[in-house]
Amino acid sequence: MNNQQKRPLYDALTHHVKKQPISFHVPGHKYGWINQLDHSHRHDRDHFFDQLLKIDATEISGLDDLHSPEGPILEAELLLSELYHSKKSFFLVNGSTVGNLAMIMAVCTEGAHVLVQRNCHKSVLHALRLAKACPVFLDPEYNQEWKVAGGVSLETVMQAIHLYPDAKAILLTYPTYYGLTYNIQEIIDLCHLHQIPVLVDEAHGAHFIAGLLFLHQHCN
Ligand SMILES: Cc1ncc(COP(=O)(O)O)c(C=O)c1O
Repeated sequence: MNNQQKRPLYDALTHHVKKQPISFHVPGHKYGWINQLDHSHRHDRDHFFDQLLKIDATEISGLDDLHSPEGPILEAELLLSELYHSKKSFFLVNGSTVGNLAMIMAVCTEGAHVLVQRNCHKSVLHALRLAKACPVFLDPEYNQEWKVAGGVSLETVMQAIHLYPDAKAILLTYPTYYGLTYNIQEIIDLCHLHQIPVLVDEAHGAHFIAGLLFLHQHCN
């Protein structure tokens, strides 16, 4: 079986449900049991919700621990890393916001200049504030076709590095909120040439890999 067909976390959760466990722990809905008590207020749509609540479990034996994974969560993160060809992958709770906070807090130190594509998400700004870093905002290009802000140009980044050679990182959003892509590779190459780490908020790009997999399967 192709590794990417495996679903370690989902399998662990469904295996757990089949044992019909009695919950003495969070979450308080007790695998949905509490939700089902009041029959007078039930709707058809609750059926779907019930199924989800059955696998809404916490870090008990066999279900691993997100903060120090050794079992199915670790296995699933390794599969994710294999899929994206990354050195490491971590699951997030609370959305891309937490990813941005972690990424920026890990790299940007107090008082450091950080080059920031101006049309970034507000979580990037919050993270910079928490890290007490000094953002240098980079103007995005205006996309004439869609009449919205796009990515930053190589020239803008070149100029910024010239003005702020001490920059500790560059923060890009790829694709942009509107899904626009740009030549990010040439920017990465330039920044790496200057030993500047490139941090990318890819909140809207997680599915790009699916397109590549599709092409790979159908064009070979
Ligand atoms: C580019 C970008 N980054 C990060 C986020 C934050 O995502 P979440 O709401 O999942 O934390 C968003 C949300 O719209 C976004 O557009």
